[in-house]
Formats: sequence, C-alpha cells, structure tokens
Amino acid sequence: RRKIIIDCDPGHDDAIAILLGAANPNVELIGITTVAGNAEVEKTTVNALKVCEIAGLQELPVAKGAGQPLVRKRETAADIHGDSGMDGPSLPDPVKTITGEHAVDFIIRQLLASEGDITLVPVGPLTNIAMAMRKEPAILPKIREIVLMGGGTIGNWTPAAEFNIFVDAEAAKVVFESGVPLTMFGLDLTHKALATPEIQERIRAIGNPVSDFVEELLQFFMHTYKEVFGFDGAPIHDACCVAYCIDPSVFTCRKLHVDIETQGEHTYGMTVVDMLGVTGKEPNVNVALELDTARFWDMMIGTLTSYSKK
Ligand code: BDR
Ligand code: CA
Repeated sequence: RRKIIIDCDPGHDDAIAILLGAANPNVELIGITTVAGNAEVEKTTVNALKVCEIAGLQELPVAKGAGQPLVRKRETAADIHGDSGMDGPSLPDPVKTITGEHAVDFIIRQLLASEGDITLVPVGPLTNIAMAMRKEPAILPKIREIVLMGGGTIGNWTPAAEFNIFVDAEAAKVVFESGVPLTMFGLDLTHKALATPEIQERIRAIGNPVSDFVEELLQFFMHTYKEVFGFDGAPIHDACCVAYCIDPSVFTCRKLHVDIETQGEHTYGMTVVDMLGVTGKEPNVNVALELDTARFWDMMIGTLTSYSKK
C-alpha cells in the first residue's frame, strides 16, 4: 500500500484522480494539497473540499498552497474547466474546511516524519513541490518518488508546452533537476486515457453518488475537449498518475533525459525529452509512454463501483 499525497488544482481529471486514490486499496491517500492552476487556488481548494465530501473523506487533511507561480504571472484554464475550475456538477458549498497549515509546510512535515515511503503525486503546476524543495532540502532523500502529470513531446497550451509545466516552468525546472526519482505522465500517454462515450456509459451504469458525480464531470469535460481540441472524449490525465501508484504494470515507461525549457521564445515550458539519447546525459525521468487501456479502465470502474458499498 503506497502512501501518496496528491498535489492538485481540481480540475475535472484532478477530481477523478482523488476519487481513485481515496478508495483503491493499493494506495493510502494521506493528504491533499492545492495549488493555483486550472483556476485560482481559492477555487481549486473549494473544489478539493467538495470532492472529499462526496467521497466521504471527512478526516482527510486538505492544505491550501501557492496562489501564484514562482516567477510568471498566473494563468488559468477556464476554457477547459470552466470559471470555477470544476464546472458541470452542482455540489453544495463544502462544510469541511482546510487545515490551517500551508501546503508547503504540510508536505515538508509529512516527509520529514516519514520513513521515506511517501510518493508525491503532483497533478497541477509544480509550484508547491518546488517551494517545499527550496524551503527544506532535507526532504529530498525522503521522497520515495514523484509521479507527476505534465509535459510530453506535444503541447496543449502552446504547440510546445503542456499546461501544468507552462504555468510554472521555473518550478518544473527545480523539480526535474532535483535528483529525486521522477515518473512523468505527459500528453503522449494521457491522451490515451481517453474517456469515450462508451466509457461514460459504463460509469453511468454504476449508479452510486460518486460515479454519478464522475459522469457529470465527464459530461462537461468531454464537451470542452470537443469544442477546444475536437477530441471524441476527454483524457483523464491526472488519474493516470494515481493508477501508476496502484499498479505500475499497467504502463510502459522508459528512462530518458528530460530538460525543462525556460528561455525559448516559442518553446517556454516545453519538456525536452531526449528520445534518441542524443545529449548523452544520464536519464533523470521515467517517462510513461504506453498504457493497457482495458486494465486502466477496469481499475477505474472497479474503484468507482466500490463506493456503492461505503
Ligand atoms: C493538465 O492540465 C489540467 O488542465 C489538467 O487537470 C491536467 O492536470 C493537462 O494538461
Ligand atoms: Ca490538474
């Protein structure tokens, strides 16, 4: 049972990642930290609290984190996730509240007190993780692994850059150069985790409050992915990271060297993946490239079904 902290900006796919991590017996979700990304941090935090309430996670700590990238001006993704960051389902205002502690301090405290068995799962911009690394470098050897959503060899925010890396590429640079074991779920992989109308139908058929919520999330998310990118479905990017923590054998990965571009006029925020080993540099990232779609969705649907018994 792998211990994980999900650092997120819910976010439709972030919400699905939390729901997968909270109920699958192979992982133990020990906390959620929030960051500005898909929407302002105040909004992503409220969304995280709402997801906890619907999943029955009254006791799980939710710590609010950075509201601004390290260097750049904040950018949000309202065209994909709506103004609230999680448009679509209508949920009541949460009763649950955040812990008083800042996300960065929560991450540092958990890691320092651990036996080196905590995996960080950042599925938004990497601001909190970079800040934690800079504030307390003693956490570095304590991190079992960072399993992150970001980057790839294509972009969705610019032709070269994926949203999470673009929003805070300076933070990404800190994390990618940290020497901590990293597994990266970029767009090459996450676009294969596509919730199609058939998948949506399977989720609708489960019929518990959590699966109904996911179905509503997908309705909105599939609509915006059609409008903006012309996709016949929505990639549930962030859930791939949690699925990897649950069962890495669902994915095929390769160890490669990856640099973060922070200078380029057209390529700011790009993850420069050395696919052919032309730099001769040591691999620093385990890059996820393929997934077993059938097993991925069976895991997802099995976990959502388990909420019926709760
Ligand atoms: C990433 O950006 C966000 O919109 C999603 O939640 C995901 O983490 C995909 O580029
Ligand atoms: Ca996200």
